[in-house]
Amino acid sequence: SHVLLLNGPNLGTLGTRQPEIYGTTTPAMIEADVAEEISARGWRLVAEQRNGEGELIDLLQRHGDAVGALVNPGALMIAGWGLRDALADFAPPWIEVHLSNVWARESFRHTSVTAPLAAGVVMGMGALGYRIAARALTRLVPPADE
Ligand code: DQA
Repeated sequence: SHVLLLNGPNLGTLGTRQPEIYGTTTPAMIEADVAEEISARGWRLVAEQRNGEGELIDLLQRHGDAVGALVNPGALMIAGWGLRDALADFAPPWIEVHLSNVWARESFRHTSVTAPLAAGVVMGMGALGYRIAARALTRLVPPADE
């Protein structure tokens, strides 16, 4: 059984990207945190980052057999309608993660087109948010669905 960690555009440069907003934690550190949390259920992590919406959609279609997913859509939260459609057809439970508190930022970030489809949203907790979301997933998925 595996969990999909899907990071959208501009999240591959975490660690050095606008550190005053997104912190200095790297994708590798985040992946290690998430892998540790989900190992409590014996799940394996598949971590992917893509800048393109189409590639993210491909990954969702390919991982329909995941036990669950953590998704940071990046700026696709704002108008990623294709990604939204793919998430609507993605059966496993998934949690949306934003490092920053998007409600405390520019108004164009105040609505996420994907969040209404998520089981939950974690935002404003920085990189720790991924770990928190991973922990939530371990509680969310019933044992039978493994
Ligand atoms: C983000 C918030 C988005 O609005 C922004 O476009 C990002 C990162 C976050 O994790 O805080 O790329 O998803």
